[in-house]
Amino acid sequence: MTSPTPLCYSLADLDRWPELDPPARLAVIGDPIAHSKSPQMHNPALAALGIKAQYVRVQVPVGHVAEAFRGFARNGFQGINITIPHKFEALDAVDVIDPLAKTLGAVNTVAIRDGRLHGYNSDGPGFLRSVKEAFGADIKDLRVLILGAGGGAGRAVAVQCALEKCQRLVLVNRTQEKVDRLAAELVALEGTSTEVSTWTDEALASVLPEVDLVVNGTSLGMKAEDAPLLPGGVLTSRHLVFDMVYRPGGQLTALGAAAQQAGARYIDGATLLLHQGAISFEHWFQRPAPLEVMRAGLSAALKA
Ligand SMILES: NC(=O)c1ccc[n+]([C@@H]2O[C@H](COP(=O)([O-])OP(=O)(O)OC[C@H]3O[C@@H](n4cnc5c(N)ncnc54)[C@H](OP(=O)(O)O)[C@@H]3O)[C@@H](O)[C@H]2O)c1
Repeated sequence: MTSPTPLCYSLADLDRWPELDPPARLAVIGDPIAHSKSPQMHNPALAALGIKAQYVRVQVPVGHVAEAFRGFARNGFQGINITIPHKFEALDAVDVIDPLAKTLGAVNTVAIRDGRLHGYNSDGPGFLRSVKEAFGADIKDLRVLILGAGGGAGRAVAVQCALEKCQRLVLVNRTQEKVDRLAAELVALEGTSTEVSTWTDEALASVLPEVDLVVNGTSLGMKAEDAPLLPGGVLTSRHLVFDMVYRPGGQLTALGAAAQQAGARYIDGATLLLHQGAISFEHWFQRPAPLEVMRAGLSAALKA
């Protein structure tokens, strides 16, 4: 007899994994994880390609990532996505680390092949695909400002911009020491000349006219009451705006509302989530992901 799929499984379930139809072969781990929309994006893709597997959520407490990975391998899983707070712990729990994930010091995608765990990071590559799809632009041609470049996601985007040799890279973070350190690392990594700006209205007002793409890598913008990221009037219709944050129901973030008011082109983090999902799918199955099926599944889940 097969068991119904619950909202999320636990670490204990990996000791006695239930028989499911189709069998669980892919998972997302985090703590918490019940909110994740990844199953609604991946399961229609698996069905569309006739792959007899399903994608489930598994709640894993901090300190138990390696144990969870062993459980997934033992139970015949093919792939895992890793979200907050496990991306750093996952780096130490894989057998083979992709060079980009090593540079970033974080793993958010694992492919299990012949019992070995291969770790990747899709933040930077997903960002590149999102910019290309939404704005028809390549990062190498753009001058980029990253707000929140000291956080995990902002740092990944900064490293990717440096690797792409973007035209200009300006980093801003509430805790400035973090971006001072990152700028030094980027010089050592790619010889990229990175600028650090203070987070003041005056400094941002002087930087904005000299950049093309504005990225929000902070966690601000998810709540309607969050403080605005930019002073009023600095965005114009020629700016491209990428908010890594997204809000349920497709509501605009504060930065999205400011972009809309300025007539600037804008995308939110849902586009990044989609492209990161597609990149995971490609690592797991070594074939192109059915992007439009995934987009429809994710869009319906975010509206629900
Ligand atoms: N769409 C996607 O697929 C995707 C993927 C990755 C991340 N994200 C989103 O990106 C955001 C950041 O994630 P993360 O993993 O990078 O988190 P993180 O490592 O905790 O970094 C949080 C960042 O936000 C800044 N911050 C927090 N509160 C702030 C405030 N009140 N004022 C100014 N800055 C503030 C932090 O600055 P300090 O350094 O000063 O603390 C840091 O730069 C989250 O909302 C996450 O959901 C989305």
